[in-house]
Amino acid sequence: MSYSGTVVVGGGVIGLSIAWRLAADTPVTLLDPAPARGASWVAGGMLAPVTESWPGEEDLLELGCASLDRWPDYAADLGVELRTDGTVVAALDAADAAQLDILADHLASLGRAVDRLAGRDLRQREPAIGPSVRSGLFVPGDLAVDNRELLRHLMDAAARAGVTFDRRRATLVHPGEVELADGSGIRSGTTVIAAGAWSGGLHPALDRLVRPVKGEILRLRARPGVLAPRHTVRALVESRPVYLVPRAGDELVLGATQYEAGFDTEVTVGGVRDLLADAERVVPGIAEYGLTETAAGLRAGSRDNLPLLGMLEPGVLVAAGHHRNGLLLAPITADAVRAMVAGEDPPAEVLAADPARHVPTRR
Ligand code: GLY
Repeated sequence: MSYSGTVVVGGGVIGLSIAWRLAADTPVTLLDPAPARGASWVAGGMLAPVTESWPGEEDLLELGCASLDRWPDYAADLGVELRTDGTVVAALDAADAAQLDILADHLASLGRAVDRLAGRDLRQREPAIGPSVRSGLFVPGDLAVDNRELLRHLMDAAARAGVTFDRRRATLVHPGEVELADGSGIRSGTTVIAAGAWSGGLHPALDRLVRPVKGEILRLRARPGVLAPRHTVRALVESRPVYLVPRAGDELVLGATQYEAGFDTEVTVGGVRDLLADAERVVPGIAEYGLTETAAGLRAGSRDNLPLLGMLEPGVLVAAGHHRNGLLLAPITADAVRAMVAGEDPPAEVLAADPARHVPTRR
């Protein structure tokens, strides 16, 4: 059985970031039959701890904000552009507006005030917003990134750092060994399970802790003369969340549905219909866009929406369950894993994500 140094199982944004950072310290092998694909390829690219936050998820907000602070350096190291125009959040009906009030009150109670705006003021800030929008928020701090550009740069940076890409599929992780689908195995020093929604099947301790949460997304292309949004636009439309994330050039990413549907990644007619109908009520101009792509990905859901980030047993770490926040949490996850592999303390905000909160672990 060959020896492969530190092994990272999974080549999405989390696994690639970990492998790239770890390779500065140690030889790294990344196992994935199709790296830079999956949920990371489908993602909207919002880096949005504030607009994703909710009462009861304060640890996730702290973790997200600590990771957002790391994003400018992480992006600069990779040569990736960040969008810093901020996010407008729109409410369509009275119940949607009440939900946004809960979010704004919650953020204010944590000292993170956001601007509450009437519909007219929101339209002044983002003229692409339509007349049905009743009220909203402006959140200047949340950022966005082109997920596909990020993945290309991560693949290059990892390769330049010396990461070995192994396209075989891992099936089970033991201390010191990873079993592969072809019946063979590889020996490892430390193994990091970072396989997103598939992580639950890779170690007995993760069984039922990580589950797939399907999300469908559309890519649109602006045609000449349309009024394109400049900001990320999020909205609640009769309680259904929808978001539109502009990319450089004329592309707009429209997402996302959220279903508990196992490992199904087929895009459904109903999902596309609902996304388009809801988004058009917020930004009427999208009716004039071209529809260029539909896709579905599997978020890695956890029980409490916090990731699982820490040691399962000596020689086996997990970095999975990032749910709606994989891109946002990539920098702090990579820093935390690098510290843990080196036997150092991870950033304090990561402690709440220790898998020991759900399962017995061995140190
Ligand atoms: N981060 C947005 C989503 O998961 O749809």
